[in-house]
Amino acid sequence: MSNSFKQIAAGIALAFGSVAGAHAATITISCGSVGQDFEFCKKTTEDWAKKTGNTVKLFTPPQSTTDILALFRQMFAAKSSDLDVINVDVVWPGMIKDHLLDLKPYSKGVEKEHFPSIVANNTADGRLIAMPWFTDAGLLYYRKDLLEKHGEKAPTTWEELAATAKKIQDAERKAGNADMQGFVFQAKAYEGLTCGAVEWLWSYGGGNIVDDKGNITVNNPKAAKALNTAASWIGTIAPTGVLNYGEEDARGVFQSGNAVFMRNWPYAWSLGNGKDSKIAGKIGVSALPKGGADGKNAATLGGWQLAVSKYSKHPKEAADLVMYMTSKEIQKERAIKGSYNPTIPSLYQDKDVLAAAPFFGDLYNVFTSAVPRPATATGLKYNEVSAAFWNATHDVLSGKEKAETSLGKLEGKLKQIKRREW
Ligand code: GLC
Repeated sequence: MSNSFKQIAAGIALAFGSVAGAHAATITISCGSVGQDFEFCKKTTEDWAKKTGNTVKLFTPPQSTTDILALFRQMFAAKSSDLDVINVDVVWPGMIKDHLLDLKPYSKGVEKEHFPSIVANNTADGRLIAMPWFTDAGLLYYRKDLLEKHGEKAPTTWEELAATAKKIQDAERKAGNADMQGFVFQAKAYEGLTCGAVEWLWSYGGGNIVDDKGNITVNNPKAAKALNTAASWIGTIAPTGVLNYGEEDARGVFQSGNAVFMRNWPYAWSLGNGKDSKIAGKIGVSALPKGGADGKNAATLGGWQLAVSKYSKHPKEAADLVMYMTSKEIQKERAIKGSYNPTIPSLYQDKDVLAAAPFFGDLYNVFTSAVPRPATATGLKYNEVSAAFWNATHDVLSGKEKAETSLGKLEGKLKQIKRREW
């Protein structure tokens, strides 16, 4: 073989080698592990892998968003390339934005189809650091059959909820179900408790911990009333065990038929009506109650995005996976089969979606007017603020402190965290 021919042959091999290399990335993704998160993730990523010739590995994160954040922060500090695609809670962008890739070069403007407020929340210094994946809002789940049996209707205030829960719980226990609970919710000391407590505060007109301008407003009589009210449920209509409940613990009790009411996110609808649920067909969903007759309905805004780690070795493929997983087609499938709320408004008018989850239509306002936690105002310090708040709330619920005392101490703590500015 002549020298020049050898050179050409080597050049061709090199070219093929690099083309094959570009198409054979292994992407590791973290999706979540609450409810059906893992199963959905597996199916969708496998479909993408088949389509593109890449390989996907699934990382199983902890269930609690608080634990996931701690883990991701460690990985970012080490500039670890172990995860390419990560799930991002709606309250995180301000805290982790510097570790995420700008997706604008990959999105081709498709973010314009999503709720503008979520896109704005995912945009930092003009960079689109995450694509909206699903949105969340706190809901009240109830047992339609039990309310009917006992001549009650869905409560509109927390006071009504407590009275109805007590009545049905006591009657059902007398009738033989010793395990019946009136109300289950998330009250473990973690981000989920912040979500619930923001709902209580807002519903009683007690503000939102820190206002939009960054002022600390949490130490006020209406907030105290809200927390003292919630504390009165523990051991009366709620088991003391709720002090250690996350989303899945509450769902476990409700879905096995042992609770009249539950506070949870939309994902619980699909599972509650699933094949192996004891209460399929018996579930009603409504807005969470008002704080007294002159209170407001309040749902905390939740939700998750998908983002590419800045330390990924395969940013292009990782971004392609993110765009696929957040697409309208996949969001529609997830809405129908898993009651995950789409981040694309037009899907709330889709008849297949509405047939599977009618409350997406009935409670549309609840989703669009949900109360954001004060993550924007507190920026990098949000997690510290939230942790101080959930601990102060937990102290009240567990009977350690009266709300007035606990909120007074919390105010001092938040001032320390803030110092001159957030
Ligand atoms: C849900 C919400 C998320 C929230 C979390 C709290 O996953 O979507 O925003 O932080 O619950 O447990």
